[in-house]
Amino acid sequence: VYWGTRRPPGLPPGPIPLPMVGNIPSLLAKDTIAAFARLRDEYGDIFSLVIGNGILVVVNGYDAIKEMLVQNGDLFSERPQNLGYTKVTKGLGIISTNGVKWKEQRRFALSTLRDFGMGRVQMFDRITHECQKCLNNFTEQNGRAFDPDQVIGVSVCNVICNVVFGKGYAHDDPEFLNYLQMMHSDATKVGNTAFMHFFPILQFFVHRALMKTDDAIRRGFIATQVREHQQTFDENNLRDFVDVFLKQMDERESEEMGTFHYENLLQIVGEFFFAGTETTTTTLRWAILFLALHPEQQTVVQEEIDRVIGRDRKPTANDRKSLPLTEATILEVQRLGDVVPLSVPHAVAEETVINGYRIPTNAFVIPNLSSVLNSKELWGNPEVFRPARFLDNETKLLKVDAHIPFSLGKRNCLGESLARMELYIFITMMLQSFTFSLPDTEPPPCLQGVMGITRMPHPYNIIATKR
Ligand code: HEM
Repeated sequence: VYWGTRRPPGLPPGPIPLPMVGNIPSLLAKDTIAAFARLRDEYGDIFSLVIGNGILVVVNGYDAIKEMLVQNGDLFSERPQNLGYTKVTKGLGIISTNGVKWKEQRRFALSTLRDFGMGRVQMFDRITHECQKCLNNFTEQNGRAFDPDQVIGVSVCNVICNVVFGKGYAHDDPEFLNYLQMMHSDATKVGNTAFMHFFPILQFFVHRALMKTDDAIRRGFIATQVREHQQTFDENNLRDFVDVFLKQMDERESEEMGTFHYENLLQIVGEFFFAGTETTTTTLRWAILFLALHPEQQTVVQEEIDRVIGRDRKPTANDRKSLPLTEATILEVQRLGDVVPLSVPHAVAEETVINGYRIPTNAFVIPNLSSVLNSKELWGNPEVFRPARFLDNETKLLKVDAHIPFSLGKRNCLGESLARMELYIFITMMLQSFTFSLPDTEPPPCLQGVMGITRMPHPYNIIATKR
């Protein structure tokens, strides 16, 4: 445990730790992202903070992040094993594991999601179906101002249900809503205590609470579905992620240290919900808000959709290449929404020296994605919502390498293709049928994000007017 006021030798530069509290004051700033931007100005692209028994190495800017996560991807693709979350997951799952456990299940998840989600026309239909339920709810609001958070959350969660369980739930299913509420509060707990791993007493309480809800979700909601799948399993008709996993479990039963076992299945399915629901929902909430605040942008996207798809037909994967304005708008929503600003902590496989700085194995390496998505040098006016920055001549979609909302390298978001498909279908279908505006009876919404596990907009009400 390091409680001194000297920085351990060789670390990237950073502020002098205070007695007892180290650099905690730098972390407790109301706006962590703004505090990190100031520290970067003072100490450079790679700086470090010393807190109790932990070291935080914050990596800023596209070049430094790429150098760590891509050029040095073999070294920097671990997860810290002193992460609070690791204690909850007990060496299971994908998000917090390393080595064979991580590699085998990441590879399996990617290829199975590809088969059941990303490439399949059938999956496209299922997302369209879930989105339609969301739009029906918008219609039922009948032009009244409402908060779209819950209905979008239920629809997005149902997309994951389709991938893993082969089915979605009714929007008024009380049991489903109850589990969703639990997942939501779970996510808030982790987010609010993102730095709790430095405070053992906090850890004790938060882990106890987390384990309790986590267990209820795994042993209740997920285990029930897995049981039903086991009872109706047919190896010639694999319906979804759970079925494909069960088949692997069966085939590899004799493996001694294998990763295809029941507890891991429950954990991994739980992680898909955990990583895939809040992130996508929050992005869609930013999308509606930005579009309502920029009616001129909303109109041009609607015109493009009308021209290419019309108002009655459902969007297809093929339409995407003919919708550059819509695509640019989605990219800009993700850039300015900045939904996972500090990514997920990385660690080094072994003590490493990079750019002359020592990175110890117990350090949390934080890729500051926000520093890239909001960079003045890269975007000129990063605070402005301007989809045209992703277009050449206002017509052709540009590939911009520094657009990294899903992070980079071997640990990048495993659900990226699924998430991109969801964002495309939801945003296109929403604008086909509705125009969004803010109620003029309420004060304009605050655009400062709220930090939970994701960076969310403050709750807001919207009016969805049928087109
Ligand atoms: C990891 C962003 C949706 C599953 C991540 C990371 C980011 C991210 C920044 C951390 C990457 C790193 O460690 O450097 C997002 C955003 C999403 C989204 C912005 C939506 C707009 C999804 C969905 C799934 C998913 C739909 C569903 C399967 C995962 C998993 C990981 C991950 C399993 C951990 C990967 C690993 O440790 O190997 N995501 N994500 N994400 N995401 Fe996503």
